[in-house]
Amino acid sequence: MMIDLKDPEFISDPYPFLARLRAEGKPIWHEGLGIYLAATHKDASEVLRNKSLGRIYVDREPESDWQTFNWLHSESILESEPPKHTRLRGLISKAFNRNRIESLRPKIEEIVKELLDELTNGVPSFDLIADYAEPLPVRIIAELLGFPRSEERLLRPWSQAIVKMYEVSPSDLVKQEARKAASEFSQYVHELMLARKANPGSDLISELAQVEEAGERLSAHELIATCVLLLNAGHEASVNGFGNGMVALLNNQEQRKLLFRDPDKHGETAIEEFLRFDSPLQLFERTAKEDVEIGGVMIREGEKIASLLGAANRDGSIFANPDSMDITRSPNPHISFGGGIHFCIGAPLARLEMSIALPSLIKHFPNLELSGEPKRRDSFTLRGYERVEVIKN
Ligand code: HEM
Repeated sequence: MMIDLKDPEFISDPYPFLARLRAEGKPIWHEGLGIYLAATHKDASEVLRNKSLGRIYVDREPESDWQTFNWLHSESILESEPPKHTRLRGLISKAFNRNRIESLRPKIEEIVKELLDELTNGVPSFDLIADYAEPLPVRIIAELLGFPRSEERLLRPWSQAIVKMYEVSPSDLVKQEARKAASEFSQYVHELMLARKANPGSDLISELAQVEEAGERLSAHELIATCVLLLNAGHEASVNGFGNGMVALLNNQEQRKLLFRDPDKHGETAIEEFLRFDSPLQLFERTAKEDVEIGGVMIREGEKIASLLGAANRDGSIFANPDSMDITRSPNPHISFGGGIHFCIGAPLARLEMSIALPSLIKHFPNLELSGEPKRRDSFTLRGYERVEVIKN
């Protein structure tokens, strides 16, 4: 069966299409995209874990136009394979371990309180994305890396211009804006790196700048690419995961009532269910480094296969009533944070942010409701809303 990832009907609700794909029971070749699609939980997980599959970044051409965009990707942790990946992950993992992240709790609570205080004004409605879901992860990741507070507003536009390239067949305008954002963003982080070398702080960029200066373990391009990735990955999926989950919740009276009655009790399982039910990242690609069998299908060396995370998360052989939101679902083995060596390094941070943001929002606005139809972004790989207008009541 053929699905069109750009079809507005597919983007507005991909799950019936993905269910048909999953029903095939094995990876299916998509002629138009030139890639296998793995949709069952077992196959999609296998794609992320199998060591014969890897991330191989192919430079965009012509190289002269795409130079910065290319190295900004090829040199980042996400696009690297061992041993480079192991080295880069080792350098940043300390900053993201559970204890370091837990120590951010008071800071996250302070920002959440500030945001909610700002929203306690005479205005009856607000945009859940721009006014709440977005500022928290942006401020926290900026703080962790030591990105100046006064320039935080630059992050979201740069990030969005770059990630638009991850959708299928981007337009010329999208390409041009992505190249521009890649140049400006890398230039900015390069200058930050130099400033932190001269005048170190206690942030991650300062820490990495010292490693770079010592030589051998980290190059300047690797530092910049990995910091840009962290600044992007550190908020895009969190914003969309929160937005997707809240819209589904507010559209489901029974689940809404259950969570609003006791947000502290159900907060943590609700967040996992938000991420399972409508995953903010839907598709990740791998390339076969050698011939390999996945779900009974032979993937030849050089061929590509995609893990469809959102499709896997609706697999009825793993989840009871997969198409229903159940905020008490436990266990919840969704794969929204990926799996294998690239498993999301920010998962503890994303979980902590959401586990504070969700109950706080509900307690502050116990009558919160959607106002009109939320506006979806016209993309599949990164699935989210542009605007979600809510009424405080
Ligand atoms: C709800 C929020 C989030 C979701 C759903 C999510 C999801 C993912 C997924 C699926 C991957 C694996 C991609 C692959 O296998 O190709 C990944 C990797 C990654 N994520 Fe997240 N992420 C989230 C939040 C964050 C945050 C807050 C950070 C910031 C620290 C972050 C940083 C990263 C990094 C650096 C990688 C690459 C790791 C590697 O290559 O070893 N993510 N994320």
